[in-house]
Amino acid sequence: MEKTEVAIVGLGTVGSGVARLLLDHGDRTARHAGRTLWLSHVVVRDLSRERDAQLPDGLLTDDLQRVIADPNVKVVAQLIGGIEPARSIMLQLLAGGKDIVTANKALLAEHGPELFDRARQLGRSIAFEASVAGGIPIITNISQCLSANQVTSLRGILNGTSNFVVTRMQQNNQPYEKSLHRAQQLGFAEADPTQDVDGSDSAQKLAILAHLGFGARVRWNEIPRRGIDTLDKTDMNYAGQLGYRIKLIAFALNTDQGLQLTVTPMLVEVGKPLAEVRENFNAISVVGDAVGPVFFHGQGAGRMPTASAVVADMIDTAVGRTALTFKTLELWSEGVPRVEMADPGDLRGQFYLRFNVRDEPGVLGQLAGLLGDEEISIASVFQHTADNEDDGVVPVVIMTRASLERNVNKAVAEIEKLSCVFAGTERLRILD
Ligand code: HSE
Repeated sequence: MEKTEVAIVGLGTVGSGVARLLLDHGDRTARHAGRTLWLSHVVVRDLSRERDAQLPDGLLTDDLQRVIADPNVKVVAQLIGGIEPARSIMLQLLAGGKDIVTANKALLAEHGPELFDRARQLGRSIAFEASVAGGIPIITNISQCLSANQVTSLRGILNGTSNFVVTRMQQNNQPYEKSLHRAQQLGFAEADPTQDVDGSDSAQKLAILAHLGFGARVRWNEIPRRGIDTLDKTDMNYAGQLGYRIKLIAFALNTDQGLQLTVTPMLVEVGKPLAEVRENFNAISVVGDAVGPVFFHGQGAGRMPTASAVVADMIDTAVGRTALTFKTLELWSEGVPRVEMADPGDLRGQFYLRFNVRDEPGVLGQLAGLLGDEEISIASVFQHTADNEDDGVVPVVIMTRASLERNVNKAVAEIEKLSCVFAGTERLRILD
């Protein structure tokens, strides 16, 4: 049988999963690729580090040049996270004539145009299925299977760590820190989980999906974003009592005013598919103008789900499929125009508002008046029991009818000026 030699750079959580699939299931990959994928080198930074992965002698090296200089190695899974040295390594590998497979969404979101242009100049390819939603084949689906459509909207749960944390907090009543620690132990989180919980990781993934789905080049750090790290558990309880779960949603909608993109925690009604996505699972709901709504669900983080996507890309690259699509997709080409993003204030939707107010006559009337001044209609009001009966402060939750986000922001700013309203207001969108 024909043989394609491959290499792995980086033997962390994902790299060790990829090594395991290639070494333990070589017969399966050979059957699907019609050739053997022969693992020739695994490059690590520190040879002395203890590792879970058991590799045959002679595979491990700390010398990247061994891969670059080996003309037999055609495909390299570049699995180092972060920007540098990942970017330089990728450029060196491309210059060395290697086709790349990567899971590094931060690098693509930041330096996609440079890397893809370089690959095109050199006649090489970059495959990146694992960079968004781990084991869910969303990149292939949007860029190939749905290519007859104009995508009109996309809503996703794209960060497994955040979803694990909110699931544990809301459904298992566990504290934030403990849930995050468990997600890290299970290998879902990035080395530094800040970008998981502050919405950056989801924004990077959304930028990649927006590029594929809407043909638009978007800078990930221009996407308005909020993570789960500022959520209060009481809002999860109140939302739960109202029949909602709070989820970190990556949201994209094509409108007449431009592309609306945002990453933010939202209330999702129990029973809707996105509300039922638990633990480290990811999900994406895509609407195409021809196909209608399509829903993808699966494990978006972790060793073997991510390795599953990486090895599939390695097979596609070895077989030659990636080279074909890479050429036609023109990803991140300088020729693709930057898209105008719509003003987030133009978003229309229902909101969950929680104010901490003094428990006295006339307060609700003042709140309702200021909301009415901004054309915001109230769907329901709930006054909850005070945490501390003696301080006379009570949480009031107001659910609005569909309103312009700009108006909601204005009304909330006015309400916060009232002497009967205390600090700590919460404002969350409700996914329609
Ligand atoms: N850290 C990411 C997550 C997985 O928690 O979803 C890799 O993208």
